[in-house]
Amino acid sequence: MDTNHHLLLLFLLFPLNFVSQCHAHDHEYHFIGKEKVTTLHFYVQETLKGDHPSAIEVAGPKDNSSNQTLPFGTVLVIDDPLTEGSDPNSKVVGRAQGLAVSAGQQQLLFVLAVDFGFTSGEFNGSSLSVLSRNPVFETERELAVVGGLGKFRMARGFAKLRTYYSNVTLGVNIIEYTVTVFHYELAQVLNCLCIGLCVPFGEFNGSPLNVLSRNTVLETKRELAIVGGQGKFRMARGFANLRTHYMNATTGVVVIEYNVTVLTCE
Ligand SMILES: *[C@@H]1O[C@H](CO)[C@@H](O)[C@H](O)[C@H]1NC(C)=O
Ligand SMILES: *[C@@H]1O[C@H](CO)[C@@H](O)[C@H](O)[C@H]1NC(C)=O
Ligand SMILES: *[C@@H]1O[C@H](CO)[C@@H](O)[C@H](O)[C@H]1NC(C)=O
Ligand SMILES: *[C@@H]1O[C@H](CO)[C@@H](O)[C@H](O)[C@H]1NC(C)=O
Ligand SMILES: *[C@@H]1O[C@H](CO)[C@@H](O)[C@H](O)[C@H]1NC(C)=O
Ligand SMILES: *[C@@H]1O[C@H](CO)[C@@H](O)[C@H](O)[C@H]1NC(C)=O
Repeated sequence: MDTNHHLLLLFLLFPLNFVSQCHAHDHEYHFIGKEKVTTLHFYVQETLKGDHPSAIEVAGPKDNSSNQTLPFGTVLVIDDPLTEGSDPNSKVVGRAQGLAVSAGQQQLLFVLAVDFGFTSGEFNGSSLSVLSRNPVFETERELAVVGGLGKFRMARGFAKLRTYYSNVTLGVNIIEYTVTVFHYELAQVLNCLCIGLCVPFGEFNGSPLNVLSRNTVLETKRELAIVGGQGKFRMARGFANLRTHYMNATTGVVVIEYNVTVLTCE
């Protein structure tokens, strides 16, 4: 069965038009696997100024008379290195990529939609999706981890943050992260299916899935994290395997094959 399946893309890092198709297989059950708890520790190195800032302002409020730095309404795109130690020159273990929106009227506060991708060690190639408020002026704060990819498929958890160093003049922030995630040991090969509740895709008409993750568009085969859904996909978690089926840069047409695996509740 071929069904055009429209995903509600909360965060799609993709500049072209796209068409998604899903091949759904009915009634396939898979075990979710053993739950694991992993703790990660690293530092986020953010630079807002200089020749190579890792966070850039892409939009802001029309009225800039407040003179405040990063006032309410500012949107930043970030690509911050993650390092093993607090020293900016220590080993890079990944990158935090996504959006930070200044969303506090009373106090400086950001809402983050960020993919934390790891590039070394056991979790090389895996990433975590964060969708959360970040009250940056509180010394100790917490972020919600809502999903992940690779070894972090269907992850849930939280990150405890502590500002290690901040200099507004230099535009430098070093933030210590201690992340606790619950994830699963899943089988490597899974087809298009729903674990637990298996019905054909047509029945999901009107039930969107929420995606929050990096999309490495130039890689032929890639994965997205599904962090939630509506309707029949309420509280869904899962992942989508993608393959670029057709791409024409001139016409801007891209056809992408999606195999979606979601865990839902009956
Ligand atoms: C913003 O800065 C300008 C120039 O320094 C000053 O005239 C203005 O009063 C400042 N606005 C606020 C709201 O502080
Ligand atoms: C506000 O924006 C105007 C127009 O872009 C610019 O001339 C002015 O310097 C800005 N003021 C501040 C405080 O950033
Ligand atoms: C991480 O994985 C990539 C892709 O598989 C590989 O090229 C790279 O060498 C790995 N890096 C480390 C530090 O293991
Ligand atoms: C920020 O950095 C500047 C330039 O290096 C320095 O003069 C200033 O003292 C620093 N401020 C803080 C609060 O560390
Ligand atoms: C999707 O699943 C089908 C059937 O198992 C398989 O042939 C295809 O290669 C898969 N595609 C991707 C992108 O994972
Ligand atoms: C892209 O589409 C244009 C216009 O239809 C066509 O001329 C061109 O050959 C296509 N390119 C590829 C790589 O398919």
